[in-house]
Amino acid sequence: MSLIPLKKRAAVSVEVKGLSKHYEARPIFQNLTLRVEPGEIFVLMGPSGAGKSVFLKTLMGLEAPDSGVALVDGRDVADPETRMHHVMGVVFQAGALFNSMSVFDNLALYPREHNLYTETVLEQKVRRILKLLAIEHAADYDPSALSGGMKKRVAIARALVMEPQLLLYDEPTSELDPETGAMIAEIIATLREEIGVTSIVVSHDIHMALAVADRIGILMDGVLRTLGTPAELRQCTDPRIQSFLNPKINPKNPRFRCE
Ligand SMILES: Nc1ncnc2c1ncn2[C@@H]1O[C@H](COP(=O)(O)OP(=O)(O)OP(=O)(O)O)[C@@H](O)[C@H]1O
Ligand SMILES: [Mg+2]
Repeated sequence: MSLIPLKKRAAVSVEVKGLSKHYEARPIFQNLTLRVEPGEIFVLMGPSGAGKSVFLKTLMGLEAPDSGVALVDGRDVADPETRMHHVMGVVFQAGALFNSMSVFDNLALYPREHNLYTETVLEQKVRRILKLLAIEHAADYDPSALSGGMKKRVAIARALVMEPQLLLYDEPTSELDPETGAMIAEIIATLREEIGVTSIVVSHDIHMALAVADRIGILMDGVLRTLGTPAELRQCTDPRIQSFLNPKINPKNPRFRCE
């Protein structure tokens, strides 16, 4: 699969230092520390409710941490200036597409609101990205008419319109059949290859994680553990991580052993 010509921008690092978050009296995560290198694909796994989506929202500057800091290319994401400088594309867990407008208009919404391109240039960009993801026929569809796999690709396409330096994916392969999930994984890997984008991917999909990740981390009981490369993860001996990865997520995959 080739996605050229998408504009290649300098990838950025992501750094999280001492990040903590709670809602009311309930702690979600404490003192998270992580550095993701420019151009890296970091896959974050963890049980449902562990705080993975909240973690991504703090990276987007949508949720303020109680303490600690999240930096993109060394700049604090809490500073609105940072969001202006460092283009971040986000693929939301539920797609977050507006049902009242077509796929094309969903992709065009942000650039139009911010007057980024002329209508002619915008039309070219949107059509090119839809074509790259093999969904050009869906430009005039209402999002409610899309299959799950198409919806995920539209959500990725919308993130790409901004020609991002950092892509944040929240469960990009959930609720997809394995073949469509593998296609999304290939898109994630290809985007890194061809536009060099830094990627943070939240997922329960161990097949995808092993296929695309440079490193894998697990958010569990409020703590983020970086488990290393897929090869290192296969060697891990922690029984809690084994029981998280093996029986619940990947009972049948003989390639994966964490023992
Ligand atoms: N705005 C909020 N107010 C109160 N609690 C919240 C808020 N947002 C998230 N939470 C709580 O924070 C916890 C972590 O939620 P989060 O959505 O990050 O989980 P997750 O790891 O992404 O789970 P899943 O794998 O099911 O998507 C949950 O208990 C959730 O109810
Ligand atoms: Mg989530």
